[in-house]
Amino acid sequence: MMNDDRAKGMRVLVLHAHPAPRRSRVNAALLAAARGVEGVTVRELYEEYPDFFIDVKAEQEVVAAHDVVVMQHPFYWYSTPSLVKEWFDEVLTSGWAYGEGGTALRGKRWMHAVSTGGAAESYGPGSEHGFTVRQLMAPLEATARLCGMEYLEPFLVQGAGRLSGAEIGEWAGRYAARLAGLRDGDGEPGGA
Ligand SMILES: Cc1cc2nc3c(=O)[nH]c(=O)nc-3n(C[C@H](O)[C@H](O)[C@H](O)COP(=O)(O)O)c2cc1C
Repeated sequence: MMNDDRAKGMRVLVLHAHPAPRRSRVNAALLAAARGVEGVTVRELYEEYPDFFIDVKAEQEVVAAHDVVVMQHPFYWYSTPSLVKEWFDEVLTSGWAYGEGGTALRGKRWMHAVSTGGAAESYGPGSEHGFTVRQLMAPLEATARLCGMEYLEPFLVQGAGRLSGAEIGEWAGRYAARLAGLRDGDGEPGGA
């Protein structure tokens, strides 16, 4: 459903973070799919910053120029690869992202696109990992909230190691559709 207060043509930024992109199956396919969606900007953080020295001004400028930011990465130790943490620590500065005068991110939408090695049924109460992926990502959600962003339900591809090439292709198609929906200002699937 189209949300009335959202115009079509939202500018979508995908920040892709994979420390070993050449060994990636799932994220490589998602990345290729994202590149094929018109109106979506893609940046590869590990390619931009192999030495972890993030150009804060450049990152702030590119984020400010978009309405929706998608952080796409594999799940590493129930969280993000380390460059994503560094990105948060460096880019989300006081007076820009939060605190006095820190309004640059207010009203933007934030979504994580995450692949997990663990299957969907290995997450959740009473499961092997004990928590839902969304629960484990609470620090990321809290960060988005503190910066005044709308945190969207993460896009999850689970059981990554056991997916066939065809299944990965299907997930890539769903991802492209989700990104196109975000560009067109769609609300949460089944929600907002
Ligand atoms: C350092 C490291 C930590 C990982 N931690 C988790 C984890 O906490 N939970 C999980 O489900 N998978 C975990 N995995 C598996 C990756 O999430 C999985 O290999 C990846 O999502 C597959 O995507 P790709 O084909 O793009 O590499 C981990 C993998 C590595 C290398």
